[in-house]
Amino acid sequence: MSLPKAVRIVEVGPRDGLQNESVSLDVATKVELIHGLADAGLQTIEAGSFVSPKWVPQMAGSDDVFKQLNPSHATYTALIPNMRGLERAIECNVKEIAVFAAASEAFSQKNINCSIDESLEKFKAVTQKAKEHNIAVRGYISCVSGCPYQGDVDHTKVSAVAQYLLEMGCYEISLGDTIGVATPDSIEALLTEILKTIEPEKLAVHLHDTYGQAIANIKQSLIMGISIIDSSVAGLGGCPYAKGASGNVATEHVIQLLNELGIEHGINLEKLNTISRTISQKLGHPAAADNGSKSRLK
Ligand code: HMG
Ligand code: MG
Repeated sequence: MSLPKAVRIVEVGPRDGLQNESVSLDVATKVELIHGLADAGLQTIEAGSFVSPKWVPQMAGSDDVFKQLNPSHATYTALIPNMRGLERAIECNVKEIAVFAAASEAFSQKNINCSIDESLEKFKAVTQKAKEHNIAVRGYISCVSGCPYQGDVDHTKVSAVAQYLLEMGCYEISLGDTIGVATPDSIEALLTEILKTIEPEKLAVHLHDTYGQAIANIKQSLIMGISIIDSSVAGLGGCPYAKGASGNVATEHVIQLLNELGIEHGINLEKLNTISRTISQKLGHPAAADNGSKSRLK
């Protein structure tokens, strides 16, 4: 079995996690969380989103959060739905953004109120303008393994959207199992299709853990050469437009898996577990750090 020597974690808890929490944290608490994650060794942290506050009120304070972050500690990225979002990112001196398309028409309509093709046209313009400002752009694709509204999703559609995002200038594509329905077999089939045309170095996996399969799916992805993994401290959150979907795989659980497999990651698990417990307490959840059972897969 061949595995990557090292993995890059993209911590999405402060965005994907907090966007779906019923308790809204104040700016100071968010900044403390994000700086703590950087101190634990996380080098890429999605710190918030510049979406419509009418659609996702939990992210309304993102401008103030970004303005208070110390940029020398880590790369802080922002999720952007349109040109207005990019303008806010530029005002906050953000150096990396992520645009987010879907492989499911129904989800695209529910999440960003337009078709996949319309969204890709908007993101092309956003990406061009971002490049003029030396802002790097990452691309997400939601519902790669299934959609809460339309069910099955065609792998060739995922591959086509990924190609389009790369051609418009995204440097990396994050494959989102938004509702956590993937299994190791379905991830293998999906990646087999996408890897026909895209190198593994340009792909990340973003796996929500609704049915407890995320760690097994990550192991399958590692076997297939993927070395970028999105995760959320304490397994926080979900997507407000995918009802019932639970949070991303917990970063602590991913680190435990990587430790067991002998893969480098550069993160201090003890510090991360402390952050996980603190934030879980603030949000009224049991801490993922205290529930290690899912990480025992080899
Ligand atoms: P719309 O209603 O079609 O757009 O929403 P609009 O242009 O008519 O704007 C509506 C109002 O929002 C207007 O205000 C705009 O000014 C304002 P009003 O005139 O009514 O007072 N507005 C904004 N305000 C601040 N910042 C902006 C912005 N844009 C518009 N950027 C829109 C379209 C895309 C804006 C909306 O649908 C939206 O914000 N959607 C975001 C939904 C979202 O954040 N979902 C969760 C993130 S995606 C996710 O979690 C999946 C992922 O994790 C991967 C995975 O797991 O699969 C990435
Ligand atoms: Mg997500």
